[in-house]
Amino acid sequence: MQKLNKWGMILLTTALVLAVAACGGRTVSNSDSSETYHFKLAHITPTDHMWHKAAEKFKEELNARSGGRMIVEIYPASQLGTEADMVQQISAGSVDFGFITAAYMSSRAPAFTAWFAPYAFENLESANKARETEVAKKILGTLDEQGIKGLDYLFAGNRVMIFKDKEVMKPEDMKGLRFRVTPSPPLQDFYKSLGASPESLPLPEVYAAVQTGVIDGMDMDLDATITNKYHEVTKYGAVTNHMVWPAVAMMNKGTFEKLSNGDKKIINEAIKAAAEYAVTTRSAQEEEFKKTLNDSGMKIYEIDQKLFEPYIKQFDEKYGPTDPLIQEFLDTFRK
Ligand code: BEZ
Repeated sequence: MQKLNKWGMILLTTALVLAVAACGGRTVSNSDSSETYHFKLAHITPTDHMWHKAAEKFKEELNARSGGRMIVEIYPASQLGTEADMVQQISAGSVDFGFITAAYMSSRAPAFTAWFAPYAFENLESANKARETEVAKKILGTLDEQGIKGLDYLFAGNRVMIFKDKEVMKPEDMKGLRFRVTPSPPLQDFYKSLGASPESLPLPEVYAAVQTGVIDGMDMDLDATITNKYHEVTKYGAVTNHMVWPAVAMMNKGTFEKLSNGDKKIINEAIKAAAEYAVTTRSAQEEEFKKTLNDSGMKIYEIDQKLFEPYIKQFDEKYGPTDPLIQEFLDTFRK
């Protein structure tokens, strides 16, 4: 009887511990560390953009998976400066994590150019699957030499073309347009090949530039078109989906390497959960975003991908030979 009571107590205690953990909503992984961390994470988008929501998800996941040992403070909307400033801070270790555009990263680590191969993916889901491939991981690995651990990719929809006054129906209509393109060589080159004059403006300067007529249009994603209110100052949106738009989730390499194996696993799993959350949520919003922009008075339409074929070929021929990883990426994803 006494023996039964003892086992009964053990079972009851185990059940209570499990119940308390479940009530707290925590999915605590087995960890080999009791260390606590206060991390900083920086990115450039406004708080209603998907990347900020993904940052919130990452924060929640880290907190839950570490049993509250890993706290993240998020600095959104360029609070810590430009992406160049943020990457410098991450590399130096004064900021731990960043969600930085692959477009900016392509100017520091050329293999990231591969992600801007026009029309490489049929849709966001296939781009998301590409995250898991060897070549995508090797591209992240090129950040090692900058003191940065590339963790994963987060997608924020595909790129579209937004025009202030002109309804562009074919690539040739782009000729002479002053077109905002994020400051990244492969994107600039793509638009030059279409005959546009790319203007290299960072996100925070775009609204005023299009409003005052300094630019005639912009390369953007639907989410950022809404969150930055570009629909107030533009009339046409061609949903070309011509390129994917990943952020590179990254961490200071020294900080990552000092973590226990269990804590590294928590970080890898938390970022994966945030990346999956971002792509699933974003894919489901495509039609809603088009409707929001239509309802705000913009004309939203499509342009046939076939019209871009010569420019796709030009891109591959120019960039494939510049880097073995870019060529491997093209060989892997071009059908
Ligand atoms: C852009 O520069 O176009 C951009 C940057 C981050 C998120 C969305 C768009």
